[in-house]
Amino acid sequence: MAPRKLAAGNWKMNGDLASLDQVDALVTAAAGAGCDVLICPPALLVYAMATRVGTGELLVGGQDCHAKASGAHTGDIAAAQLRDVGATHVILGHSERRADHAETDAIVAAKAEAAHAAGLVAIICLGETEAERDAGSTLDVIAAQLAGSVPEGATAANTVIAYEPVWAIGTGRTPTVDQIAEVHALLRDHLAARLDDGADVALLYGGSVKPGNAAEIFAIPHVDGALVGGASLKAGDFAPIIAALDAA
Ligand code: 13P
Repeated sequence: MAPRKLAAGNWKMNGDLASLDQVDALVTAAAGAGCDVLICPPALLVYAMATRVGTGELLVGGQDCHAKASGAHTGDIAAAQLRDVGATHVILGHSERRADHAETDAIVAAKAEAAHAAGLVAIICLGETEAERDAGSTLDVIAAQLAGSVPEGATAANTVIAYEPVWAIGTGRTPTVDQIAEVHALLRDHLAARLDDGADVALLYGGSVKPGNAAEIFAIPHVDGALVGGASLKAGDFAPIIAALDAA
C-alpha cells in the first residue's frame, strides 16, 4: 500500500462565514481527484464548513485540540468535539503553536494520542528554524521532533507527518529540491524503522507551496502531498495545487 496523497489547506486565523463561499469550488476541485483534499479552517467554522460540504469529497479538519478528552480547560477544544461537528483530521504541533503557545514535543504527542482516541487523523508538524539550518543541525532537529511528537499507537491510518521549515512559512522562500528530499528520506527511514506500516505514512511538505512550485515539489521522492497556508485561502489558488498532486 502506497501512502495516500493529501492536499491539505491550513487557513490559520483567517476567514469568516463569507469565506465558506470557497467551499463549492473546492468540492468541485476535490471531486474525482486521485488524492484526499482537506481544509482546516478556524475552529469556529468547522461545523459550518462540514455542513456546507455535505456528502461532497472535501474533508474538514481542526488546527489544534486539547490533550484531555473533556474538563475544566477554558477556551480549549477536545478532539471528540471536533469529530462531533464533522472534522476528520486535526493539525497538531504547527510551528506557530509551538512558538505562540510553548507546545513541546511531549505536548504534541499527548494531543496526537487524544486525536487518535477520538478517531481523528493527526497531522503532526515538524520543522527547523533558519538558525538550526544554518548551524547544520536540521536532520538532528527533525529526528528529535519526530521521535518526541509521534505517540505510541500511531499508524499510517491515523497519522500524517508534515515537514514545514519555519523559515519557509509565509515567506515565499522554499528549500531546494535536495533539501526537501533529504528531510523526507529521513522521515521515511525513521518511520519505517519505528512503525509496522511506517512506509505508508503520508509525508506532506509545507511552506510557501504555490501553484507555480507545486509540481516540482510533488515530484520529490517521499513527498505525498502538501500542507498549504496562504494559497489555500482561495479556491482559485488551491485548485491548481490539487491538480498538480493528482497528476504527480
Ligand atoms: P504558507 O503556505 O502560507 O507558507 O503556510 C504554510 C503553513 O504553515 C501551513 O501549515
